[in-house]
Amino acid sequence: MTETIARPTGPDLMDPTLHCRPERVRELADDSEPIFWSEKWRAWFVTGYQESLTVLKDQRFSVKYNEHKRINTQHLDTEALALLREFYCGGMTQFTFSGGRSLLVMDGSEHSDYRRLVMRHFTSREAIKLTPRIHKIVDDLLSEWEGKEQVELMNGFAYKIPILLFGDILGIPEHLRKSFIDYSAFTESRAAKSQFATTEDMRKVAAQGPDFLKKIDTIIDEKSRCPADDMVSTLLAGKVNGDSVGKDTLRAMIYMLNTASQTTTTALIGNSVYQFLRFGIWTKLAQNLEIVPAAIEEVLRFDPPSSPYFGREVVDDIDFHGQRMKKGETVLIFVGAANRDPRQFPEPSVFREDRDPNRHLGFGSLGGSHFCLGAPFARQESLIAITELMKRYPRMSIVPEPERAKSFGFSKLNVKLG
Ligand code: HEM
Repeated sequence: MTETIARPTGPDLMDPTLHCRPERVRELADDSEPIFWSEKWRAWFVTGYQESLTVLKDQRFSVKYNEHKRINTQHLDTEALALLREFYCGGMTQFTFSGGRSLLVMDGSEHSDYRRLVMRHFTSREAIKLTPRIHKIVDDLLSEWEGKEQVELMNGFAYKIPILLFGDILGIPEHLRKSFIDYSAFTESRAAKSQFATTEDMRKVAAQGPDFLKKIDTIIDEKSRCPADDMVSTLLAGKVNGDSVGKDTLRAMIYMLNTASQTTTTALIGNSVYQFLRFGIWTKLAQNLEIVPAAIEEVLRFDPPSSPYFGREVVDDIDFHGQRMKKGETVLIFVGAANRDPRQFPEPSVFREDRDPNRHLGFGSLGGSHFCLGAPFARQESLIAITELMKRYPRMSIVPEPERAKSFGFSKLNVKLG
């Protein structure tokens, strides 16, 4: 006789009305049940901080989930479902791309071998070295605002900084940069977050894929002929267990690095400006610039600028925090709820610009194998962008109504420069 075990259940945290609303997700979370089963999504939902941290660090949970996200599809029709399946199985995502796999779907030694290969580009020293380049990008963008009273901050500023910077670091030729970011922003917001996708979105994603693949191959060809000091050249020259990196893996890594570096950093800049203005601390911060780094960390906790959840797959049958989990089951970590767990953060719904300690999960789990590689860059880019805005426009204000993006962050944020 098979044993049936009652599993705790809870609210539908995937509900589209909770999009970009971490405070509501936290309100719905039940501290006595920080891990519960969602029958609707056939996944374990994790809302507690410590429990999330453990899942992110524990080898009993695999990132294989990212390879074939089989969730968020209830609302799609047959055509959209087929396109989505094609997209994930050898499709075009930041996880798996055209048959190749990125760091985000690798576990164990395979993951650490590839991570080591690109690591030297991601140190804090490298981020500091980029300071003059970031200043130049920010200054040039801000000079376009001269004489203006009101501007839209996302498209004209926040969106452009990582494209210009990361194009250099990755080694994307100038003529391909804009199409790169446009394509990845679109596919990631529609397909990877498939609870928001429509059939029309999936058709567009599928139609653009082959052209995008050609662009990636152009980069690989150009860099093979003329290597330089950039990540693509490092990947081309690198060896893993004595072998060169295969073309499929190369393509997947390039796509993942491009996507991971762009929309998130754009969102961090936008979310920071929004929260500082909304809480009326912009001018105070402008007069005390030394607090800005801590204030940006608080934005990462309070309004995380990336996916609302990270996924993992249970490797073997286990007992975990009192729950019996089965091999192959999905586990979703709700970052916004974990970042507001009162057992970890005193007064979690209060925005404290000088919160200390602040071990948020905005970049994943520090010490976990998949902790964000680009965190030093994201911190440096947003710090320079925001402090330069504050120095020039200490009396900036929001023009209603800002528009949230389909994935995360803002698509429109109009501000009066003051
Ligand atoms: C505010 C900006 C950023 C945020 C919020 C962010 C967030 C994250 C998170 C949460 C993860 C872990 C995902 C998981 O455990 O499943 C991650 C991984 C990663 N991020 Fe970021 N990221 C940001 C900027 C960047 C930048 C600028 C880069 C540079 C290319 C980058 C590259 C990566 C890479 C390569 C990984 C995968 C690491 C691995 O699997 O070993 N990120 N990021």
